[in-house]
Amino acid sequence: MKMLMASALVLAALGGAALAEDKDEKPYKVVDGKVDQATFNGYRRYGNSCLQCHGPDGAGSSYAPNLTDSLKHLSQEQFAETVINGRQNVSSSQQNVMPSFGHVEDVVTYLDDIYAYLKARSDGALGRGRPERIGR
Ligand code: HEC
Repeated sequence: MKMLMASALVLAALGGAALAEDKDEKPYKVVDGKVDQATFNGYRRYGNSCLQCHGPDGAGSSYAPNLTDSLKHLSQEQFAETVINGRQNVSSSQQNVMPSFGHVEDVVTYLDDIYAYLKARSDGALGRGRPERIGR
């Protein structure tokens, strides 16, 4: 967050044109509720690999956390680190395991897209359900 603000300040110092670019720093694009190809791909990959535990639309389940909440405080690096290495909750009596996806090509290759989709959901830029694609 601090870094984001700092970069926004730098961009502001560079003038109005640069400020407009600040918006492009979002990993997703949503126009009239429709998403770009990468975000749509993230939606699909999420459905294939994450939904079974994290629930529809990233909204969480009794087993795994709500990722739209998680991405309010996790950086993209922390997100990627968790997905690639996995994590095990050893402190609770319940054994909740986040599997490691480091060897799952479909996830590693499209991790940025999955992040974009979940970030759009987390920011409230995208509602629940299957999104439509821009230009379709
Ligand atoms: C087998 C069930 C399962 C699957 C499949 C799964 N997760 Fe998880 N995930 C979990 C559990 C359980 C946790 C919480 C682990 C803990 O408490 O430490 C978790 C935690 C996370 C966290 C950390 C959340 C936080 O607030 O710190 C992220 C990020 C995450 N998962 C992303 C993903 C993504 C992206 C996918 C799909 C590529 C995925 N997970 C697939 C079970 C799963």
